[in-house]
Amino acid sequence: MFVANQTKQFIIIALAAIIVYSCRKGKSTPEEPMIVPQPEETLRQQYSKSVTQWPAAAWYSNIKVHELAALPENPSKDKAELIALGKALFFDPRTGNGMKTCASCHHPDTYWIDQKTTADGIALHHRNTPSLENVWYLEGKLFHDGRAKTYREQIAEAINSPIEMGGNTTALPAKLQAIPGYLRLYEAAYSSQTMSVEGLLDAIAAYSRSISSGETVFDRFIKGDYQALNDAQLEGLHLFRTKGKCINCHNGAFFTDLDFHNLGYANGAFFTDLDFHNLGYAVTSKGALDNGRFEATALETDKGKFRTPGLRNVIHTAPYLHNGSISSLSELINLLSQGMPQKTGQQVNGTLSPHIQNVRLSSKEQENILAFLESLSNVPSKTERPVLP
Ligand code: HEC
Ligand code: HEC
Repeated sequence: MFVANQTKQFIIIALAAIIVYSCRKGKSTPEEPMIVPQPEETLRQQYSKSVTQWPAAAWYSNIKVHELAALPENPSKDKAELIALGKALFFDPRTGNGMKTCASCHHPDTYWIDQKTTADGIALHHRNTPSLENVWYLEGKLFHDGRAKTYREQIAEAINSPIEMGGNTTALPAKLQAIPGYLRLYEAAYSSQTMSVEGLLDAIAAYSRSISSGETVFDRFIKGDYQALNDAQLEGLHLFRTKGKCINCHNGAFFTDLDFHNLGYANGAFFTDLDFHNLGYAVTSKGALDNGRFEATALETDKGKFRTPGLRNVIHTAPYLHNGSISSLSELINLLSQGMPQKTGQQVNGTLSPHIQNVRLSSKEQENILAFLESLSNVPSKTERPVLP
């Protein structure tokens, strides 16, 4: 009896199992399609999405993630009359000692630079002239070492510096007060005819802050026109964010983390005697090595660090680095891809950034990064020179 019951139970369980199995099997055929292996998404498909869904970038572990972004609007809200006063002062040699203007070095027709290795002011400078595009974004960290916290500080230094304009800001209000045209411009900007140093500096600051770069092919791409970058530029964007590691420092809408890093090329400026011969490697007024960020903080760990430059229109602003020591982008990309090896006779001032590594980009990959940098440029509209009062 007991055995028979067991057999019965076994038969019931076995039957149930067969039924369940055959039902499942019957059902599964129409509902679970065969998994056909999908071809991997092409790079263009992976990037034809909002930036938050792009392939992961290769961030170093201690870096704050800050993705690339489209060009934002210039947030400066200075009134037109203030900008007009600043523009006149920017192009006027009387702002300095009568020889140089801001535009002597920051030429509006050449992306606000002078295309020289180091600036050529009242005396030879030890640093390369940076572009003025998007300087509103740099407030608090102006100059290659970020030593000027405010525009007032930065502009007063440019005017008074014996190697830039050799002027005298303290004497400037009285000097300009005597020029009727400047009185009119000042009155329009400030509703007062009593000039102050601060008033004049703020006007130049307002003009500087109004200078923006324009929309680029990259901006169109990141805003959804996914055909805007060509294949080489797209490969370059991917390498910039991944194997090349560039995004760790060059990020955000302006391709700068606004931080300071040591790339190991802080040897003295390479002065050029424009009239006769190339003087080659020379020492700066502060010695053979530029101390960079150390100038602002006096911290030993800041020796040889410079602010990460933005990369918009970078293809137009050769030569490169704070001392103009690298003449072309392809040369710089080649050095970066090998972790910035030192040239003969050079030495690292301080300690090379741990984020400058031998990333071993092939020559094809280097070309693609260059193509990507080209996609960050725009043709600016012409800047009309002001009629000087
Ligand atoms: C002799 C050439 C020369 C003249 C003239 C000159 N500059 Fe410059 N400018 C430079 C150089 C070189 C630097 C970088 C200096 C440094 O890092 O120490 C610079 C830096 C700047 C910066 C900071 C940009 C950045 O990326 O941090 C601004 C803004 C600026 N100049 C505006 C002006 C204004 C406004 C005037 C006129 C009042 C002026 N400059 C006159 C050569 C010049
Ligand atoms: C560790 C941070 C860091 C990384 C990583 C990095 N850069 Fe830079 N980059 C800088 C700094 C800082 C400078 C300026 C150094 C100087 O003036 O001496 C610079 C300068 C440049 C310049 C010259 C800009 C100019 O106006 O002079 C270009 C171009 C550039 N980097 C592109 C790249 C590319 C491409 C990569 C990736 C292959 C890369 N960088 C990786 C920090 C970095």
